[in-house]
Amino acid sequence: MKNVGFVGWRGMVGSVLMQRMVEERDFDAIRPVFFSTSQHGQAAPAFGGQQGTLQDASDIEALRALDIIITCQGGDYTNEIYPKLRASGWQGYWIDAASSLRMKDDAIIILDPVNHDVIRQGVDRGIKTFVGGNCTVSLMLMSLGGLFAQDLVEWVSVATYQAASGGGARHMRELLTQMGMLHNNVAKELQDPASAILDIERNVTALTRSGTLPTEQFGAPLAGSLIPWIDKALENGQSKEEWKGQAETNKILNTQTLIPVDGLCVRIGALRCHSQAFTIKMKKDVSIPEIETLLASHNDWVRVIPNDRDLTVRELTPAAVTGTLNTPVGRLRKLNMGPEYLSAFTVGDQLLWGAAEPLRRMLRILL
Ligand code: HSE
Repeated sequence: MKNVGFVGWRGMVGSVLMQRMVEERDFDAIRPVFFSTSQHGQAAPAFGGQQGTLQDASDIEALRALDIIITCQGGDYTNEIYPKLRASGWQGYWIDAASSLRMKDDAIIILDPVNHDVIRQGVDRGIKTFVGGNCTVSLMLMSLGGLFAQDLVEWVSVATYQAASGGGARHMRELLTQMGMLHNNVAKELQDPASAILDIERNVTALTRSGTLPTEQFGAPLAGSLIPWIDKALENGQSKEEWKGQAETNKILNTQTLIPVDGLCVRIGALRCHSQAFTIKMKKDVSIPEIETLLASHNDWVRVIPNDRDLTVRELTPAAVTGTLNTPVGRLRKLNMGPEYLSAFTVGDQLLWGAAEPLRRMLRILL
């Protein structure tokens, strides 16, 4: 059995990973070693029924003893530890949720329902570093994989609707706190059917602009609003999140000819599901029934939602998808621009396929 180290297993992505690994009995197939950056020496968790103590996550010697390391600890940890570990001659597999190593030539971005062949060939070539993709990119490819697999996509324009969880646990708390404060401010008036809605709205807007809502994480109120910028600014006017769309899509697919992907990334007040609206320029006119068949048969998690109002509002929403591995795609229709222009809307749980799930599946590939 392989010795597998876990770092950052207690955080939000790490907790989802642990839950999925327990559900899939992954711990039965490995010898887990749990690490901590702050609490080494204390009792380790017993997800797989094992007993032990937490090891020091900065102890290079302890890390060197492992066959595989899975980290959800974040980019700072990766930047500090990974170079030292490799410099020490460690030849093990590093599976990482953070973005730091994603674009390195000797790293593969993992999303095996989409790029299993790229991963397999990488393993055979001796690649030892495997990194989960950006959540919007992974969720797009899980939903639209059937079109990319058939080389039908000329370019993609996207508008995202990204959940608070993409920022982290504190961002989710901040959003919910803002929501609660806004509601408290008008709760009494809301109960009175005779109260004037514009007075209520004025109160909410005044509180939103008052500077009293907590905004340390997002930098602006999100509840009842949105923020059309995610991550750092690049010199070309894109946000870093927008830049990742094209860079990571093409790396995951290992495209020989670049597929342009660009758009606008927007934070909205959903909790953990990212949604995305796409305009897709197809390489040729393919009928909607044919497109639906290609999409639905690509992997076990994609669900094609017919372009029907009732089905869409019931099944193509964060409320319906959160906590599931389903990656539904709907609103499929040809746009006025011409028969090669397709619209699509996808929803996916940002913590599952967008973060934790590809990591545990990579582990399975290596066992
Ligand atoms: N960067 C993403 C977001 C999450 O902020 O929503 C991680 O891929």
